[in-house]
Amino acid sequence: MRPVIFPLHGHDELGRFLAGRLNGELGALTLRRFPDGETYVRLDTDVAGRPVVLVCSMHEPDDKVLPLLFAATTARDLAASRVGLVAPYLTYMRQDRRFQPGEGITSAAFARLISSFADWLVTVDPHLHRYSALSDIYSIPAVSVHAARAIARWVRANVASPILIGPDSESAQWVEEVAREADAPWVVLEKIRRGDRDVEVSVPQVERWRDRTPVLVDDIISTARTMIETIGHLERLGLKPPVCIGVHGVFAGHAYADLLGAGAARVVTCNTIPHRSNAIDLDEVIADAVADHVHRSVGERG
Ligand code: R5P
Repeated sequence: MRPVIFPLHGHDELGRFLAGRLNGELGALTLRRFPDGETYVRLDTDVAGRPVVLVCSMHEPDDKVLPLLFAATTARDLAASRVGLVAPYLTYMRQDRRFQPGEGITSAAFARLISSFADWLVTVDPHLHRYSALSDIYSIPAVSVHAARAIARWVRANVASPILIGPDSESAQWVEEVAREADAPWVVLEKIRRGDRDVEVSVPQVERWRDRTPVLVDDIISTARTMIETIGHLERLGLKPPVCIGVHGVFAGHAYADLLGAGAARVVTCNTIPHRSNAIDLDEVIADAVADHVHRSVGERG
């Protein structure tokens, strides 16, 4: 049976791409609000006996998740064979412990919710800091696609003589891999976060790299404070204006403009969250991971 791919809340392009690559059908779905604010959902494409793939942007998630849950449960009610979720940006990964007494560990709660209605999940470089793998919190098969190779390709093609810089120790995992693929040197800085918008960054011996173009790489750019602070340090040390690369460009509020205003030579993101800074296309690698799941689920049902 041909899979049906439903894009929700953006990612229409990725939905079309997946439909082509999986020899599937792009599904039609109606989502709207009733006058009282409740969500109406209707699947206009027949899903009975077919694998369903929901492609959902998870940026600013709270208004998106309930319609997603309704779409998934409706597909199930209508006898879809499997319901998978493609969430290129996986939200709610950063609250991964109780930092203050009484706080909710929302990453785990969110994972339980998704695992309750999806059969599998494909995402890109989730923020794994205190978790070692998605399976720590997700009880469904969850695959993380890596952006490093595509980022490295972009760096090689667009930046002469780069020095890759990770703004903090957490970013080492992305930066090291990108640097290896791009065959470039790399360093990681140290960061102290005092509050949501108050981050201090220290730069060990970055003078060594004065002739190179700094390329800051991080998994998420949210308020952009981490990158803005780093730009300030690099500037004071006389380095060139850096290229700033985020896997996921969340850009809370005016973060994108702030980052450009702070002296970034260029701000580039992967297309995991639709944004004008998207320059690194991950559709192909996402499709490979999704194809594995869809073909497996078709095979499983003989
Ligand atoms: C940190 O935990 C992440 O890897 C990023 O460094 C962080 O999310 C960036 O956030 P912001 O843009 O708000 O400084």
